[in-house]
Amino acid sequence: MEKISTSNNVCEIIKKRKTMRSYIKKEIPKEDLQEILSVTESCPTALNKQGYQIYVVKNQETKDKLCLAAQSQKQVSEADVVLVFFADLERGYQRNSDKKSFFYSVQDATIATSYCQIAAHALGIGCCWVGAFKENEVIKVCKTKKNLRPISMLTLGYTDPEYQKKIEAKGKKRKDPKRMFKFL
Ligand SMILES: Cc1cc2nc3c(=O)[nH]c(=O)nc-3n(C[C@H](O)[C@H](O)[C@H](O)COP(=O)(O)O)c2cc1C
Repeated sequence: MEKISTSNNVCEIIKKRKTMRSYIKKEIPKEDLQEILSVTESCPTALNKQGYQIYVVKNQETKDKLCLAAQSQKQVSEADVVLVFFADLERGYQRNSDKKSFFYSVQDATIATSYCQIAAHALGIGCCWVGAFKENEVIKVCKTKKNLRPISMLTLGYTDPEYQKKIEAKGKKRKDPKRMFKFL
């Protein structure tokens, strides 16, 4: 495959991303939100079953309830949009016809979250992955059916510039690559 190299280098964009947890009051344009969802949809999924569902939450009351379900993490209330990613156990690929298996749907939902986070960052929108929440409370708030299990949330908003400067100045803390990769 040909190496894609442009000034808008996707690798650089990904490497620069950092979690942003503080937002200003500014609405994300509909076209940008649509673009983020469109990138998300392009993600790979097991057997192309797209075994996930995303709830797009703009309603303040609902965001406040999700905030409570997520240990009162304030970025959930403050965000302009909260996306809730569910593993769809009916839609997702079921290995060995195991109806209870949600192995692939969870991976699909996780990959979707990851693509979504990168797309948001590429469009200059701050984002935080929220995994610490009470599953049953999120189900109750979103009024979902049994086939949906919440996997993650993403909070999206324009980052407070002062906060962003501070966070970016800290750089990325990562373990020594030797501990992460083994070359055989
Ligand atoms: C599965 C998962 C769960 C996470 N849950 C939370 C969370 O509940 N609250 C939060 O503030 N950040 C959460 N994060 C964000 C991580 O804390 C963050 O990605 C990590 O510290 C690395 O920082 P960076 O994203 O700026 O590179 C989560 C990230 C992942 C991938």
